[in-house]
Amino acid sequence: MASVLVLNGPNLGRLGSREPDVYGSQDLGALEAALTAEAAGRVSIDLRQTNDEAELISWLYEAVDTATPVILNPAAFTHYSYGLRDAAALVTKAGLPLIEVHISNPHARETFRHTSVISGVATGVIAGFGFGSYRLALVALLTPGG
Ligand code: DQA
Repeated sequence: MASVLVLNGPNLGRLGSREPDVYGSQDLGALEAALTAEAAGRVSIDLRQTNDEAELISWLYEAVDTATPVILNPAAFTHYSYGLRDAAALVTKAGLPLIEVHISNPHARETFRHTSVISGVATGVIAGFGFGSYRLALVALLTPGG
C-alpha cells in the first residue's frame, strides 16, 4: 500500500466555515496534516474533494485501477447516490478496502441522514468522531488483520 485515497464529497471544501457547531472549525488542510502525521511515512495521503458526483465516481475507478485503498466521506451523496454506491461496490468487489466516514453522527441528525446507500457496499463505517473518524479509518487500514 503506497498511498491511501481520502475522498470527500460535496460541501466538504467549506469545512472550517461550514456549520462549525456540527463539523468543527478546522479545514481540509488541517485534516490532511493530521492524516499525514498519523501515517508517519508508512503511506502517502492523497486527499481530494469535489462537489461533482461524476468526478467522485471517476476517482473510485482510479482506486480500482491503481489498487489503492479508499477512505470516503460521501457527504450528502451518502443518502441518495446509487451511482456512487455502484462505483464504491467496484472497489470492494475488487478486494480493496473502502471505509465510509462521517465527521458528524448522521444517525443523531435529521431522518433523511439516517439512510446510507453506501454502507451496504463499504468495508466498514466510522461516524461521529470529527476528524477522528478519518484517523480511525486510517488506523484500521494500517493495522494488519484489521
Ligand atoms: C457528513 C454527513 C452528511 O449527512 C452531510 O451531508 C455532509 C457531511 C459528515 O461528514 O458528517 O455533508 O457526511
